[in-house]
Amino acid sequence: MASVSGVDAVILVGGKGTRLRPLTLSAPKPMLPTAGVPFLSHVLSRIRAVGITHVVLGTSYRAEVFEEHFGDGSELGLDIEYVAESEPLDTGGAIRNVADRLRNDDVVVFNGDILSGADLGALVTTHREVAADVTLHLQRVDDPSRFGSVPTDADGRVTAFLEKTPNPPTDQINAGCYVFRRSVIEEIPAGRPVSVERETFPGLLESGRHVHGFVDDSYWLDVGTPEAFVRGSADLVTGVAPTEALPGPTGERLVLDGASVADDAVVTDGSTIGAGAYVASSAQVRGSVLFDGASVAEGAVVERSVLGKGARVGKGAVLRGVVVGDGASVGADCELLDGARVWPDVELPESAIRFSSDA
Ligand code: GTP
Repeated sequence: MASVSGVDAVILVGGKGTRLRPLTLSAPKPMLPTAGVPFLSHVLSRIRAVGITHVVLGTSYRAEVFEEHFGDGSELGLDIEYVAESEPLDTGGAIRNVADRLRNDDVVVFNGDILSGADLGALVTTHREVAADVTLHLQRVDDPSRFGSVPTDADGRVTAFLEKTPNPPTDQINAGCYVFRRSVIEEIPAGRPVSVERETFPGLLESGRHVHGFVDDSYWLDVGTPEAFVRGSADLVTGVAPTEALPGPTGERLVLDGASVADDAVVTDGSTIGAGAYVASSAQVRGSVLFDGASVAEGAVVERSVLGKGARVGKGAVLRGVVVGDGASVGADCELLDGARVWPDVELPESAIRFSSDA
C-alpha cells in the first residue's frame, strides 16, 4: 500500500451501538474487544500503516473511555485528539464538529465500525488526481439490496444515493470511508445533527459538486450486528481480514495471556479466548469471542457467539449465534439459538434506560 502525507484522519466513534446491546452497555462499539484488542485498534493500525499520523476521534456515547485507553496515541506512533459532542450530532454533524482540529486540506473520514482492506493510499491519490470535493470508498458486495446503493458514471462520478431497493442498479454501496476536501467540511452546518449519507452527500450532488467514487472489492465488513461482529473477529484471527494490531500470530484461535483452555476442549474457527477466560474439559468454542473472564463449562458448545466480560455458560449448554452480556449466566443444558441475547441481571445504567426508550 502506497503511503500518503498531508492527510488528517477523522474517525466517527460516537454511536450508541444499539444493535450490539447488551455488549455496548459497558463499552462503546469501537472499544469492544475484537481479536484481543479494542476494535478501534485495528482501524488505527490500518491508518498508521498508510503513513497517516494525525487522528481526530469524534466521540459522544461513553466519550471518556477512548482517551483513557489510547491517550495521546504516541504508543501507536499516532497523534490522537478527541472531540466530544455533548449531544450526538450524527455522522455529518460529528465531522463538522472536528473542523477546527484539522491541519491539512485532505481529510479521510472513517466510520469506526468498519473492517476494510481497501487501499487507503490509492483512495487519497484518486481524490487528488480527479480534484473531487469528496471521494467515497464504494464497495462491491454480493447482495446490494441489503444496503443503499451508489451508482457512478463512466468517469467514476457519483450520480445518485439510492435507498435500499429489491433490485438496485449497481452492486456498489457506501463503504463508510470518505476523503473530504477540508473546505467542504466547513460548509456542513455547525451545531446541529446532520447525516452525511442523507443530507450532506445528496446535497452536494444536487448542487453539482464533484462527488467521486473509488470502487473496491477487497475485504470489507460492517461489524455493527452480533453476527458481523463475531465474523469480523474470527476473520482477524484467521488472517482473512487485514490488521497490524493482532496480539499474536494468525491461526485457528487466539488465546490471550492468562486464559485457560482444557487440553481436550476444542477452540477453533478464529475464536478468541480473553484474559482470565476459561474453557473447560470437552467444551467446544467455534468462531466465537470470549471477553476477559468469561467461562464455558464442561461439554458446553459455543458457536458464532459473544460472551461478555465474566459471562458464564453452564455445563452442556448449547449456544449458536448468541450474545451473552457482561456477567450474565446461561444455565446448564440450556439451548439458545440464533439471535438470542442474554442480558445481565443487574441494574441498568441510567444511560441504557434512556436509550431503550429512545429506540
Ligand atoms: P447502531 O445504534 O447499532 O445503529 O450503531 P451506531 O450508533 O454505531 O450507528 P451506525 O452504525 O449507523 O454509525 C456509523 C458510525 O458513525 C459508527 O462508527 C458510529 O460510532 C458513528 N456515529 C453514529 N452517530 C454518531 C454521532 O452522533 N456522533 C459521532 N461522533 N459518531 C456517530
